[in-house]
Amino acid sequence: MSTQHGPHGHGPAPGPHGQGAETRRDRGVLRTKTIEQSIRDTEEPEHALKKSLSALDLTVFGVGVVIGTGIFVLTGKIAKEQAGPAVAVSFVVAGVVCALAALCYAEFASTVPVAGSAYTFAYASLGELPAWIIGWDLILELALGCAVVSVGWSGYVRSLLDSAGLHLPPVLSGSHGGRFGFDLLACVLVLVITAVLVLGMKLSSRVTSVVVGVKVTVVLLVVVAGAFFVTGANYQPFIPPSRPTAGGGGLAAPLAQLMFGFTPSNFGVMGIFTAAAVVFFAFIGFDIVATAAEETRNPQRDVPRGILGSLALCTLLYVAVSVVVTGMEKYDTLSVDAPLADAFKHVGYPFFAGLISFGAAVGLTSVCMILLLGQSRVFFAMSRDGLLPQLFSRVHPKFGTPHRSTILLGAVVAVVSGFTSIDVLAELVNIGTLFAFVVVAVGVVLLRRARPDLPRAFRTPFVPFVPVLSVLASLWLMLNLPAETWIRFAIWMAAGVVLYVLYGRHRSRLAVRLRARRDAAAGRP
Ligand code: ALA
Repeated sequence: MSTQHGPHGHGPAPGPHGQGAETRRDRGVLRTKTIEQSIRDTEEPEHALKKSLSALDLTVFGVGVVIGTGIFVLTGKIAKEQAGPAVAVSFVVAGVVCALAALCYAEFASTVPVAGSAYTFAYASLGELPAWIIGWDLILELALGCAVVSVGWSGYVRSLLDSAGLHLPPVLSGSHGGRFGFDLLACVLVLVITAVLVLGMKLSSRVTSVVVGVKVTVVLLVVVAGAFFVTGANYQPFIPPSRPTAGGGGLAAPLAQLMFGFTPSNFGVMGIFTAAAVVFFAFIGFDIVATAAEETRNPQRDVPRGILGSLALCTLLYVAVSVVVTGMEKYDTLSVDAPLADAFKHVGYPFFAGLISFGAAVGLTSVCMILLLGQSRVFFAMSRDGLLPQLFSRVHPKFGTPHRSTILLGAVVAVVSGFTSIDVLAELVNIGTLFAFVVVAVGVVLLRRARPDLPRAFRTPFVPFVPVLSVLASLWLMLNLPAETWIRFAIWMAAGVVLYVLYGRHRSRLAVRLRARRDAAAGRP
């Protein structure tokens, strides 16, 4: 297996903090791993993942995870309740926020080509505690995101089964409107995906390619076939006038509206931003391309291409789909569960509706798979660093995959998906992801200052302007999420800090190395 890091030579570089310097700083919880140490860790045989992915594989992964519940499910709900036809603008707003973050992610991923995404980047630039926080935060994006999407998948499959006259008993169809139920299909999906991931990256990648093909075809079908049924009158008004939220909104109102003393409302210009904070879910996943950096043949070149390529493609498709769907059917009559399929029923073409439901069900499978893959890699990286028990970072001798972390996470996500309903969790996933964007953007600036010597195959343009803009844009979307989402997020992050203080702070490999070095210097055995 190659351990080369591309034409730019990413081995231990000479320089102020190069070979021999295990850590750049030794400041307790702000101690950082050097980039060189991060790369050396990936080269230890028992911790090494196979390097088998190309730029095309990464783009397929990107599109595979990005197009999913967001466009297939949330478009209708958000157009109907928050933005009207202007949901297309919300997609552009969310896309711009992601593009800014992507420019930062791409520089980090091409500088630190090891598994773990924002977690690894933060460890190299901000320090151990921030890295732990971001890794803990990524669980919201990846594991919880996987659970959310598997529940969305289950809804589509049930709808297909219903059309075929096969009805699952309600108790096995998940929780709905306060009624308790176990979502059997979502749970089984996650377990099957876990098995595929344990068997190996290459297999997963091949399965994903087929699934992505089906999904993109269905999305294009919606755009091309749907365009024939667009009625101009459906776009009036394009931005529906602002309307106060029933009951005042309370903690369910966006934090920005509460902070700035606005009457909590839907629609209008503010509605476009509230909608953007939710449809942002549709973009989640492009950053996961970065988590596969260590398994990429030429990360310096291919990771930025994979990230930016999949993001550009998805933004284009989302805007096209939302323009077409809100043109086919008046926004206030759109369906909440399966808006794309139901828009075709609305214009009298149920055959297309069935095809779209089938494509959505197939497509959401790949979303779940890649979210779980990304999560297992972050978990793997955290374990390899000793912040989580090290047994989770032993690679399977035959399959070359981190099987233990994959199985543990798959089991947990399967249980969560069995008992979870979508709405609230999607917002929690969004706030967690946006927070990761903030950390990465800050990290780019700090790393430019701390390690100007490092080779960067991709450089974020206009630093620090673009990273600062990325931070502000991500924060703005976060503020447009409900106040109660902020409270849940704060509780989750506080639990993470407690865990770090009790475990990772003493057990991290970096802490152990530093202790050994201090002991050696002091002449202690
Ligand atoms: N972006 C992914 C989706 O929309 C997570 O389902």
